[in-house]
Order: sequence, then structure tokens, then C-alpha cells
Amino acid sequence: MTRITFDLQATDGSARTGVISTARGEIRTPAFMPVGTAATVKAMLPESVAATGADILLGNTYHLMLRPTAERIDRLGGLHRFMNWHKPILTDSGGFQVMSLADLRKLTERGVTFRSHVDGSKHELTPERSMEIQRLLGSDIVMAFDECPALPAPRERIEESMRLSMRWAARSREAFGDRPGHALFGIQQGGLEPDLRAESGKALTEIGFDGYAIGGLAVGEGQEAMFACLDHAPASLPVDRPRYLMGVGKPDDIVGAVKRGVDMMDCVLPSRSGRTGQAWTRRGQVNLKNARHADDPRPLDAACTCPTCRGYSRAYLHHVFRAGEMISGMLLTWHNLHYYQALMAGMREAIAEGRFAAFESAFHAARAEGDI
Ligand code: GUN
Ligand code: ZN
Repeated sequence: MTRITFDLQATDGSARTGVISTARGEIRTPAFMPVGTAATVKAMLPESVAATGADILLGNTYHLMLRPTAERIDRLGGLHRFMNWHKPILTDSGGFQVMSLADLRKLTERGVTFRSHVDGSKHELTPERSMEIQRLLGSDIVMAFDECPALPAPRERIEESMRLSMRWAARSREAFGDRPGHALFGIQQGGLEPDLRAESGKALTEIGFDGYAIGGLAVGEGQEAMFACLDHAPASLPVDRPRYLMGVGKPDDIVGAVKRGVDMMDCVLPSRSGRTGQAWTRRGQVNLKNARHADDPRPLDAACTCPTCRGYSRAYLHHVFRAGEMISGMLLTWHNLHYYQALMAGMREAIAEGRFAAFESAFHAARAEGDI
């Protein structure tokens, strides 16, 4: 089987475009990964997700280990077959979700014990168990096991947590072993402290990973602080490996992250907000719940080529949202994922053609105009 490779094709300032090649297909970067936490991108068929332009999905160790369990998914032929998505899947390692979702968490050097938010049952995650679960799922890109505090947090807490995550990264590397066709990514921590980010990046590089994530951001610090961190954090990571910014973000966060050298991102925002009546367009955020759409025969965005914008009016989207119809979440999720993927495609093209700065100006100018 082939090894996962990263072909960096062009750079423009700090922005990069390239292709990650895996046994299950190519991932064009910068890439946005829709979130399929519970073995589904909510309200979307997998073929529809692919039609929006997604090359890779994100899955979650934490949710899948609790329900339906990694062992059951393995017996059923792995996560790709289980959910009928045959392109690459990246799985998060669970520690971060335990800290935000589980009950009665207990963190030790060994790992974390917790009670399930689903049924209260007791579980343990360690670097070794996380690697085993991600292997049973058949994940193409496996994430090292880590944890991080919400920001703001005292420097000592951030430092201690980062060093623990680096020891866990070494144990993750050891437990992952050598699995041709599968990649292991390390996760940089260190909060907003430049020296801790550098120490973490150095520790991960010495261990050696197929790619490097920037973790511990978008946890309450705000965009300005996140961008300031992204101005220095990638410098301690190898230039020839993919860089993945975890859990980001809004469209303007994504453009700013790509500008600073990020290659991959994931966020629940386009899918989750689609289910609450929120749409994202070139001109910013639109709330379909608003009564101003009730008689509007125009599409969300006349320039958008998604099935929602080609077939349905704002009036219809307003009506089905107000009526609580399931198609509301389906149509808005499709549009939102299409918009996010079109944004990524636009950035890839702009970087390849050396006009990222012009792309960024046009992006902000369209948003400044506001919704129609
Ligand atoms: N998702 C968002 N941020 C993080 C992080 O720091 N670590 C992990 N594992 N997942 C995340
Ligand atoms: Zn659309």
C-alpha cells in the first residue's frame, strides 16, 4: 500500500496549496473537512457531501467508542463501509471531546477516565486505547491523543497540559506503530504562549509525524488572539508536512488561517448552523428565520450553484424552517457545505495563481456589502 504523501504545489506569502495523496484518494489543500461525528454528516447523504467538493470527512473517537463502539464498527467492515463514505476519513483522538462533553472526568498521567454523556457508563481513554480505536475504525488520518485547557488559563496550567500532551504524543507514536497507507498526526499545544508553542512544535518534530495539527485554539481566545498565535505557531512545524488547524471556524477565520499557512481545517459550523436556520454566503451570515424572507422569491445567493440556490427561494427556506420541516436542515446544510468548499476552491486557485491578497480583499469587500 502507498504511504501518505504531501505534494506542496505553490505558495503565496505564507499561504500554501498542494495535494495529500492517500490510498482512498487525494485531498486538495487548503482543505475543509465537514464533521461527521456520529458516522454521519447530519442531514446529508455521503454522495451529497462529496458533491459539495469535500475530499475528506472528520469522525470522532469519543462519540463512536460510546455508540455504536469501535469493535462493532470493525466487525461491520470499518467506518468507511459502515457510513458509506469511501474517501479519506480523519478521526480526532477523543481527549478534547472528553474534556468538553463527558461527565466526571479524571485526568492522570496514564490517560482520562470519564462517564459517557449518553448513558453514564464508565470508560477510559489512553493514548494506547485511542490508537486502537482509531485503527478499528479504519481511519486514514489518525490524531495523537492530547488534551488542552479552555482559554484564558494560567500559564502553569497551559505548560503542564502541553508537556503531558507531548508525553502522550510519544506514546501515541509508539502505539500507532508502522501502518502503511495510514497517517498519524501530532497535535501542537501551548495556548497563546510563543515559547510553549515552539517547545511543543520541537517535541513533535523530534518524535516525527506524517502531519502536524495546531490544537488548543478557537477555545475562547477570539479571532485576533488566534491570528496572533498563527503568526508564530506554524514556524516550529516542518514546512513539508500538512498543517491542520483543529475546530476552525467561521469563513473569515478560515481565510485568515490559510493566509498564515494552514492546510486543513474542520468545523461543525456549516452543518450545525444549517440546522438552526443559519446560512453562510459570500455576503456574510443570513438568518432564514427572519420574517423579511417570507415573501422573497430570490435564492439565498443567485451566484451559488448549489441545489438549494438553484431550486428554492428564500421564502421557501423561511417557510420550511418555521414549519420545522426536515428539508430545512437538509437544504441549508447543503448550501453551507457547498459555500465552504467553494471558498476553499477559490483560495486554492488564488494561491496557485499568486493572487491570494486580491482574493482576500474581494472576500472582505463582498462581506462588507452585507446581505441582499
Ligand atoms: N479540536 C479542536 N481543538 C482540538 C485540540 O486541541 N485537540 C484535539 N484533539 N481536538 C481538537
Ligand atoms: Zn447555495
